[in-house]
Amino acid sequence: MHAALFLGASVLALAAVGCSHRQADSAEHPSDVLPPVAAGELRAPEAFNAITDKAERSRALFLEASRVMLHPRCSNCHPEGDTPLQGTQGQAHDPPAVRGPEDKGVVGMTCTSCHQDKNLELARVPGAPNWHLAPKSMAWVGHTPHAVCEQLKDPSRNGGRTLAQIVDHNAHDELVGWGWHPGPGREPAPGSQERFGAIVAAWVETGAECPSEEARP
Ligand code: HEC
Ligand code: HEC
Repeated sequence: MHAALFLGASVLALAAVGCSHRQADSAEHPSDVLPPVAAGELRAPEAFNAITDKAERSRALFLEASRVMLHPRCSNCHPEGDTPLQGTQGQAHDPPAVRGPEDKGVVGMTCTSCHQDKNLELARVPGAPNWHLAPKSMAWVGHTPHAVCEQLKDPSRNGGRTLAQIVDHNAHDELVGWGWHPGPGREPAPGSQERFGAIVAAWVETGAECPSEEARP
């Protein structure tokens, strides 16, 4: 009995050591066991099975998803400030436009007075149905993957969504979908919406763990 207790305690102690060690490793080299991926692509969710620890796998899946969320095609509509951003460096929106009280511009200058429900190729105005800014609580510009992850899971900051609704939004929302069909002259988000949706679903299935503050994809 005593021997068994003692054994149990040392196994726990060993497990704790092993665990913190793995975490430190993965923060430094999160993608060591994963196949390489081109900047414009996303890894398939199955590729992450190479990471045997489930929580660790979940964190790596989120880092992959963050390559999309922090891409300018997404983050330009998820800014902290009162102006939408544009381009690859997140420049201020030109022509000047403001957020307004409901994230849809101001009277006389609403987003949809210029942005139609599809891209206007000649005028270079991007478009998708109900074009408007994400509320400030969902701002991601300049945030770490860790911070974006915590925001995404927090119903007070994610529009009151459950994790299942977050998966659905990412896999099916039309403003999200625009990220892969941004019109000529704009680099699409990496991969495809379908694969991105599958990555987010796999992140949720593995426990929706958040990467450490230092971790980068
Ligand atoms: C007066 C017309 C006009 C208004 C009003 C307007 N936009 Fe734009 N918007 C444009 C044009 C034109 C572009 C393309 C700029 C370019 O690529 O050179 C653009 C580009 C953008 C982009 C950049 C996409 C990218 O990733 O490069 C975003 C995001 C955006 N607008 C959001 C909004 C939002 C949100 C509103 C309302 C708060 C809004 N716009 C109001 C005309 C407008
Ligand atoms: C034209 C602007 C626009 C673009 C482009 C855009 N979003 Fe959003 N996003 C929004 C708005 C508006 C909301 C709020 C919708 C709501 O709550 O009803 C939102 C909400 C979200 C949410 C919901 C939860 C949360 O906590 O933020 C996710 C996830 C999201 N967007 C992901 C993306 C991804 C991924 C991309 C790029 C592939 C993207 N968005 C591109 C405007 C945009």
